[in-house]
Amino acid sequence: MSEQTMRAVTIKEFGGPEVLAVERVARPEPLPTEVLVRVHAAGINPVDWKTRAGHGMAGLQTLPLTLGWDVSGVVEEVGFGVTTLAPGDEVCAMPWFPRPAGGYAEFVTAPSRQFARKPASLSHAEAAALPLAALTAWQALVDTAHVTGGQRVLIHAAAGGVGHLAVQIAKHLGAEVVATARGHRHTWLRELGADETIDYTSRRFEEATGAVDVVLDLVGAADGTDVRSVAVTRPGGLIVSVPSGVSDALAAAAGEADVRTSPLLVEPDAAALTAVAGLVDSGAVRVEVERSFGLEQAGEAHRLGETNRTRGKLVLEVAR
Ligand SMILES: NC(=O)c1ccc[n+]([C@@H]2O[C@H](COP(=O)([O-])OP(=O)(O)OC[C@H]3O[C@@H](n4cnc5c(N)ncnc54)[C@H](OP(=O)(O)O)[C@@H]3O)[C@@H](O)[C@H]2O)c1
Repeated sequence: MSEQTMRAVTIKEFGGPEVLAVERVARPEPLPTEVLVRVHAAGINPVDWKTRAGHGMAGLQTLPLTLGWDVSGVVEEVGFGVTTLAPGDEVCAMPWFPRPAGGYAEFVTAPSRQFARKPASLSHAEAAALPLAALTAWQALVDTAHVTGGQRVLIHAAAGGVGHLAVQIAKHLGAEVVATARGHRHTWLRELGADETIDYTSRRFEEATGAVDVVLDLVGAADGTDVRSVAVTRPGGLIVSVPSGVSDALAAAAGEADVRTSPLLVEPDAAALTAVAGLVDSGAVRVEVERSFGLEQAGEAHRLGETNRTRGKLVLEVAR
């Protein structure tokens, strides 16, 4: 096949999983300071299917669009001026977010300094599962909440992509971790470091645990999780509301209880990703890939993700 084109999962219109199709598209070329990376695996995130459906970051994209932000692969070519990466280096990243990155493809280009070295202990499929979820957890717990040893941290949706990494990062920071998930996930979450587990389907979390300093809310308004979290947060504590920001209802309830709130939108950050990669290689953080798919199975992968029951992450492997 021509060097000028590559295989990519594209959409020509926003819609259901059936709009995802493997096409041949132009292969990108690195500008000065950019690298061309041969993608071995692309991580799947809820923002991918939300964007595919016309929500999420859809307003910032143009059609036709190659979806996907998380990638792990090998540097193929470096643009003028790149000094820290060379062809053959194994890297992972969540480049360009929230601009389009075109991750579900054989190649991506992006600024070299948005990439971290792939953790040596991980396969490309595992490394592709890491960037967006790990950066979200890190930017919430470390950069926004400044979690310190001895604090109690409640993590909603602890079994998901962001949550299972957040449990381990919070534990690494010395926090006491309270995790919400269905009961059959609890043994696994305790192995990852959760001190308390709450089955949110059988108990109201605010009645099942004592006061916490920080809530990492990865559920949002569903079941009133965001507003109900105020009842379990200490005065002066912080709720980081990740899925859709701080609603008026949350702001009002939190204001009355002297609880702080923050929205968060994850940003590319190679330094933080390198820090997480170090935790992975040291054994402090494990990455769970529930299932990997080929590029042709992107629709099936999105259907599974949209059930909202994923344990850890779903990924696409380009060479499968
Ligand atoms: N603002 C940002 O920058 C940003 C970044 C990353 C993610 N997000 C958003 O954050 C959310 C989580 O992302 P993710 O990648 O972790 O998603 P995910 O992996 O798809 O989350 C799936 C998990 O959610 C759990 N879950 C579903 N409803 C729950 C509830 N009511 N209480 C507790 N757990 C529940 C499920 O656990 P069970 O099977 O045990 O129910 C499942 O393990 C998504 O809405 C995503 O779009 C936003």
